[in-house]
Amino acid sequence: MGRVERKVAIVTGAASGLGLATSRRLSEEGATVIMTDINCAAGESAAEKIKGATFREHDVSREQCWEKLVNDVVTDHGSLDILVNCAGVVQLASIEQTTEDMWRKIHSVGTDGTFFGCKHALNVMKQQGQGSIINISSTASIQGGPNIFAYAASKSAIRGMTKSVACLSTQQGYGVRCNSIHPGNMSTPMLRGVYDVVRGFDPVMADELEKMWVGDPEDVANMVLFLASDESVAVNGAELVVDNTLTITEGVVLKRELQGADA
Ligand SMILES: NC(=O)c1ccc[n+]([C@@H]2O[C@H](COP(=O)([O-])OP(=O)(O)OC[C@H]3O[C@@H](n4cnc5c(N)ncnc54)[C@H](O)[C@@H]3O)[C@@H](O)[C@H]2O)c1
Repeated sequence: MGRVERKVAIVTGAASGLGLATSRRLSEEGATVIMTDINCAAGESAAEKIKGATFREHDVSREQCWEKLVNDVVTDHGSLDILVNCAGVVQLASIEQTTEDMWRKIHSVGTDGTFFGCKHALNVMKQQGQGSIINISSTASIQGGPNIFAYAASKSAIRGMTKSVACLSTQQGYGVRCNSIHPGNMSTPMLRGVYDVVRGFDPVMADELEKMWVGDPEDVANMVLFLASDESVAVNGAELVVDNTLTITEGVVLKRELQGADA
């Protein structure tokens, strides 16, 4: 019996990176997975290779899309047990460089998308008396950073929304859990894009970045699986960090093969 057998899951941002790895892992453990993304070509081709998964076009920044998605999933599959709010975009900019357009783009996907997702999933999950919402935040919400102003703000909003949903659910006896995951650097197309941008303006810093520890998408997918399963029944409103000590280490965390080199 799989760890999420017979559960129905929606994963956003599922065409790539962490959302794709999460879809694969939930499906391996028995869930029916509705993979969603705005990138239809990549999403459809990925879903074809994952048993028990289907793809559906979905823009997380539009509330009316959420209403339809959640209603259709419940009609077609009988329930919605797991929502993974994973879609996100990043742009490197300090507060001094951040334009209104940049700010709104990052927030429309990360902040608005997570808000709408939580709101509409909660509405059906509370009627079921159970459900698990998992929001992908970032270590940026814990540490901030000089050049990720809007992204860190959006990820902090996700952290706050998560705790508020969890507290409401407990107060009202809804039976719905809501937790956030805070990955450090994970090997995905998003991170590769960030490294490429850095290389464009500071090759020395880019070389330093290449020495740093980077996790696998499966490391996050396994944490999602735990939170999605009934094994985490007592975990609600928590922030689970997947960063191999990045947020508590002074200085940088190097790749395993470089660790201990100066010791
Ligand atoms: N990779 C990392 O190092 C890292 C670290 C911390 C947090 N995160 C977060 O994890 C999540 C996944 O990141 P990733 O690294 O897999 O990135 P990725 O770029 O590989 O995947 C993100 C996906 O989101 C989709 N997307 C963008 N806008 C969308 C929209 N409006 N509606 C629906 N889908 C949309 C993209 O098409 C893409 O498929 C993001 O929220 C990101 O901020 C990533």
